[in-house]
Amino acid sequence: MCGIFGCISRDNNVAKIIHESLKRLEYRGYDSVGEATISEGRIYIKKDQGKIDDVHRLINLDDLPGSIGIGHTRWATHGAPSRVNAHPHLDCHGKIAVVHNGIIENFAELKAELENLGHSFKSKTDTEVIPHLIEENLKGGLSLLDAVREALKRLEGSYALAIISTIEPDKIICARRESPLILGVGKGAMYCASDIPAFLPLTNEAVILENNEVAILWHDRYEIRKLENWSHVIREPEIITWTAEMAEKQGYPHFMLKEIHEQPLALRNALRLQDIYLDLMATFLDRAKNVFLVACGTSYHACLAASYMFSKLAYLPTYPIIASEFIEQAGMAVNIDTAILAVSQSGETADTLAAVEYARNRAATVLGLTNVVGSTLTRVSRVYILQQSGPEIGVAATKTFTSQLLVLAQLALRVAKIRGKVSSQEIKSFERELKMIPDIVEWTIMRNEEKAKQIARKYRDSRFFLFLGRGISTATALEGRLKLMEISYVPAMAFPAGESKHGPISLVEPGVPAVFICPKDKTRKTIIGNIMEMKARGASIISVIEEGDEEIKQLSDDYFEVAGGVSEIFSPITFIVPLQLFAYYMAVERGYNPDMPRNLAKSVTVK
Ligand code: M6R
Repeated sequence: MCGIFGCISRDNNVAKIIHESLKRLEYRGYDSVGEATISEGRIYIKKDQGKIDDVHRLINLDDLPGSIGIGHTRWATHGAPSRVNAHPHLDCHGKIAVVHNGIIENFAELKAELENLGHSFKSKTDTEVIPHLIEENLKGGLSLLDAVREALKRLEGSYALAIISTIEPDKIICARRESPLILGVGKGAMYCASDIPAFLPLTNEAVILENNEVAILWHDRYEIRKLENWSHVIREPEIITWTAEMAEKQGYPHFMLKEIHEQPLALRNALRLQDIYLDLMATFLDRAKNVFLVACGTSYHACLAASYMFSKLAYLPTYPIIASEFIEQAGMAVNIDTAILAVSQSGETADTLAAVEYARNRAATVLGLTNVVGSTLTRVSRVYILQQSGPEIGVAATKTFTSQLLVLAQLALRVAKIRGKVSSQEIKSFERELKMIPDIVEWTIMRNEEKAKQIARKYRDSRFFLFLGRGISTATALEGRLKLMEISYVPAMAFPAGESKHGPISLVEPGVPAVFICPKDKTRKTIIGNIMEMKARGASIISVIEEGDEEIKQLSDDYFEVAGGVSEIFSPITFIVPLQLFAYYMAVERGYNPDMPRNLAKSVTVK
């Protein structure tokens, strides 16, 4: 997730406006920054690696001349954070400048094709193919707008783009597919940005671009067209009444809620991984004699779920281990034949890195899954995968958890393929299912938002919760419990439901809420038995069920419904969503700020 901004104005010196607006987008990415403007027929560009203030101190982002320009603050996906990979990117002759937020999935093919045609590339980014594609189309005699239009037709993946060119220096061309892009309508100036706060101090009139739309901005007007058939779209600006702080959270009261709602988009990005990394990692996992999945907190719960995925799909036994226990628990079993897959959103968690370091010293193969390019985990891993969820600001992990699961599910399928354990037809059907997950999550959020508020209101004063699931839903139960506990400070326990009668059931007395995770899988009959045991002792049953599961509905005091159509093995991705919402509303009901739970930090860099 990056932040893009563009400004075309009647007045000169847009560079300062771009700089200030990028600062309001810095929460979207902060590993590098850049600006490009046009003046007297030439593009001026400044960019570098680092936070905006640091880069500005070194190269003064405000002194680019001109009344038209674009800017970018980066969250690296393709290519490490560096000056050369920072946006804007140019064509061969420095006539076209582009900033981009999103992922161009087919960039490798396009790059090879353009290199064959003589284009030379400077960066390792996917974005750089765009100015070169436009340049190539211009050679064929197209106008700038048509050249952009033809280029857009070739792009697969997601994008929000702002493009300027010395060929037609009176306009910014923008386009959107999946990544957000909003126009700001000022007095004598037009803006485009990834997010409303970027231009809110300049104007409160906003036009939200829809998917597959192109906008052309002049300093005094704008035009929107549908990419598909180039028809005009008439859309008047909306008046934004948010404060700057509300706008940064896109109108959500907290980052956590915003990030819960960002899950469909984050999941779509997690489906856009490059095959070579998945295949390479799958090969290492297949070859290893023993595989450890190592992580802390929420990331550990993703590992636990993954151990079921690897076993059920690929018949590969793996050992999920809490990172701080790894050396003591498994240290002596680590050797040159071991693969350790470390999962860490931040890539900086000290306990996880200590486990990795230990394994490296014993010649094990280190594989990493993280959300942060350039993090320590990416540097110490033999192969790493970036989950591409964008920055997560709320301390409670939400969108990064579901994305980790989706990446791990894809990895398990790859290993299954290598090992020939699942027929190619089944693999195809699983892959189709994975593609549907973002939509299912979207539906599930909508369906459960109000419900989560109501149920939280009802149980806000409960002093203890139990979370129970069987099979892979044990991981969902553990994660649901962690979410509730860490932000609303209600003591809670989570167990595989089968364990409850070996101890935890003694805590149950009338009114104790017991949350059951109940996908329609092989464990359903036994989980119904466990619900009955709890009911008999007076527990209040809150279930997470598949839509239309009347039998469990009847047994429950309250229930959340999750859309069907997802196999048991992927169910944690959808079943956790109502529990994230429930935890969030419990914290709000109890008067706590879910974004800043006491005593916790987003990245735990001490052991
Ligand atoms: O950055 P990591 O994934 O390594 O962080 C691990 C845990 O600290 C983290 O998952 C923590 O449990 C969550 N913030 C809880 O919501």
